Amino acid sequence: MSHKHIDIDKVMSELTLEEKISLVGGKDFWCTRDIPRLGVPSAMMCDGPTGLRKSLNMDQVDSGSVPATCFPTAVVLASTWNRAMVEKVGKAIGKECRAENVSLLLAPGNNIKRSPLCGRNFEYYSEDPYAAGQLAGAYVKGVQSEGVGTSLKHYCANNQETNRFSVNEQIDERTLREIYLAAFESIVKEAQPWSIMACYNRVNNEYVVSSRHMLTDVLRGEFGFKGFVVSDWGAVDDRANALHAGMDLEMPSTYGVTDAQLKKRAGEGKLDLEQLDVCARRILEFVNRAAETLSRGAPKWDVDAHHGLAREAAAEGIVLLKNEHAVLPLHASKKIAVIGEFAEKPRYQGGGSSFVNATKASGALEELKKLVPTLQYAAGYATGATKHDEALRAKAVEVAAGCDAAVVFIGLSDADESEGFDRAHMRLPEHHNALVEAVAAANKHTVVVLTNASAVEMPWASKVQAIVEAYLPGQAGGLAVADVLMGKVNPSGKLSESFPKRLEDTSAYLSFPGTVTTTTYSDGVYVGYRCYDKRRMDVLFPFGHGLSYTTFEYSAPRVAKAAYVDNEAVHAEVTVTNTGKMAGSEVVQLYVRDVLSSIDRPAKELKGFEKVHLAPGESKTVKFTLDRRAFAYYDVARKDWVVEEGDFELLFGSSSRDVRGCAIFFLKSTSSPLPPIFTRNTLIGDICSYPPTASMSKKLRRDFSGTSMSPVFLHMFRTMESSFPIRMKVTLAQGEIDWEDVDEFLEECKELADLQVDTSSLL
Ligand code: BGC
Repeated sequence: MSHKHIDIDKVMSELTLEEKISLVGGKDFWCTRDIPRLGVPSAMMCDGPTGLRKSLNMDQVDSGSVPATCFPTAVVLASTWNRAMVEKVGKAIGKECRAENVSLLLAPGNNIKRSPLCGRNFEYYSEDPYAAGQLAGAYVKGVQSEGVGTSLKHYCANNQETNRFSVNEQIDERTLREIYLAAFESIVKEAQPWSIMACYNRVNNEYVVSSRHMLTDVLRGEFGFKGFVVSDWGAVDDRANALHAGMDLEMPSTYGVTDAQLKKRAGEGKLDLEQLDVCARRILEFVNRAAETLSRGAPKWDVDAHHGLAREAAAEGIVLLKNEHAVLPLHASKKIAVIGEFAEKPRYQGGGSSFVNATKASGALEELKKLVPTLQYAAGYATGATKHDEALRAKAVEVAAGCDAAVVFIGLSDADESEGFDRAHMRLPEHHNALVEAVAAANKHTVVVLTNASAVEMPWASKVQAIVEAYLPGQAGGLAVADVLMGKVNPSGKLSESFPKRLEDTSAYLSFPGTVTTTTYSDGVYVGYRCYDKRRMDVLFPFGHGLSYTTFEYSAPRVAKAAYVDNEAVHAEVTVTNTGKMAGSEVVQLYVRDVLSSIDRPAKELKGFEKVHLAPGESKTVKFTLDRRAFAYYDVARKDWVVEEGDFELLFGSSSRDVRGCAIFFLKSTSSPLPPIFTRNTLIGDICSYPPTASMSKKLRRDFSGTSMSPVFLHMFRTMESSFPIRMKVTLAQGEIDWEDVDEFLEECKELADLQVDTSSLL
């Protein structure tokens, strides 16, 4: 592999048409094409989000992979709410990539968790675009700090596995901008991933791989993306259309098939050769970046140190959901029963393209046995079994009954959730639920440790004293679980997704996964907590929830000024004190609420978070700075973000449902109101509420003064009148007003609106 920097202009001038075409496709499953004649080397890219998956055979998708550290899955990294920790993990993965001459990591996955059923939720960060953007963005920064690129995927709205290769996601523009594009947007702006992976699915009738709007106008034009777009593996439906859209690299190689198509199109004069140059150049730029890092040599990395980092990250991402009577942490001197084969044979990662050949794996049982000499273990079930085993369960109950506390490990299996398919329901296996019920009946100090990729229903939640959500915590996850159970680590993870009570409560319930061809996002912007908050529904565990072994108190929050203009930075702060006896970390969450909005908006939205570590009795002031975007909504008519003037509340919380304080301020908007488009169908209300034409109200609204109409009727007429298209002035005027009059009104409106433009440009 050559590590020499190439002179891109020179190479471009010497490339033949065939060579350019060859550059925008793969050489095999994982590499770009080399052109030895011009000294252009090939560059290697590999999966994936949880750690490096470098294939043993470059011509195959699934030939086994080199050993690498299997770090906690994205859901656990996200639950740390710690940008620095996620960045550290990214950096370690970047180093393992460099050690294997891998130049681009096909990660992170950052689709929004629209439904808990999505089979790939373990690979994704959050139901909230701000949290997802911040935490996956930290991963991008970490990997790239090693000089290894990332390919942020799957752009965009690959929120389900069912029919993912072709499904047409119907998403209204505001929802697309505020929820599904926002996480990609912030990462592009703040971290510039070297690459973006275009998804398999369609968005609003177009395959994203062939959408010039999505790949060029929005991604490059609006977000400022500078890298190259790679297709998800096999996603391209028409190579020329994709190229014209700005889809630079088709992967994997089609071994000449699509090269021939492009060549034929070129022969017919139907290939945009300038666009081909643009795409080929972007691949050469990537190859040069790759060469620069490769020239620094392959570093060594320490298997144990990375295992240790995987343990630290997992322990920080594990979420303590419930802890009654301080049953946790456990005391080593007590008799403890450990039940469930997951304790011995952990399931610690998800299935599919992110699957890592872990360097080692530690179960919680092994570690707990070292710490608790009197520990007793019962398998309770066999991993992979789908039915209950009476003998195993009876033994588990007997062991639990004879101990001071019982810790039951249960969860979902690889067959329940994975890339490639979605879950059909949100339930745990019936025999795992039954085991918990039986153990809890035998021992009132029962603790449940969960293994799963996304929210599950917990019918036994009120019957156990503690619940620990371990998710899929990576190869050192067992050690991390032991650390949390025994109090070596004070838990500080918080949910980056809501746990609803039942599947039927979820926003996407009626439209997920849609029909064979189409999924309509009828839930709009009301995804996750935005839905539960707006509907004031009870949830099992809310977004942002997570307990600690210590307690935190919040001061009254402070906002620096009582009024701001929206182009100023808003400064606010709150002081947090550790009021318990153990050192611990708190994730302070900041939600924004538009107090009175003329458009329908979520009850509150996450716009900031900080994690602070506090010794017992210690206080720290956490400062936040918010920009205009934190208060804006996407206005479809203006095709822009707009702030509506008025009061805004800043809600500081320990979770989305545990708000500890609120600061209010007035925000002056710099968005000027948008003039209506004046036609005979413009609504009278729109003309009257647009300030420059508001004076037309006198001419357009009926004068009811002096009539004896009741207030109710008056209100009804006024409201109806606002929604009349101006043409109804003619059709309802019994001959008193004609079309000429209406056209005159419209001319007058246009003049008033133009005047507004003129005066504002003079100011
Ligand atoms: C997955 C991608 C992955 C690619 C290569 C695709 O099926 O959707 O996430 O990077 O395969 O393995």
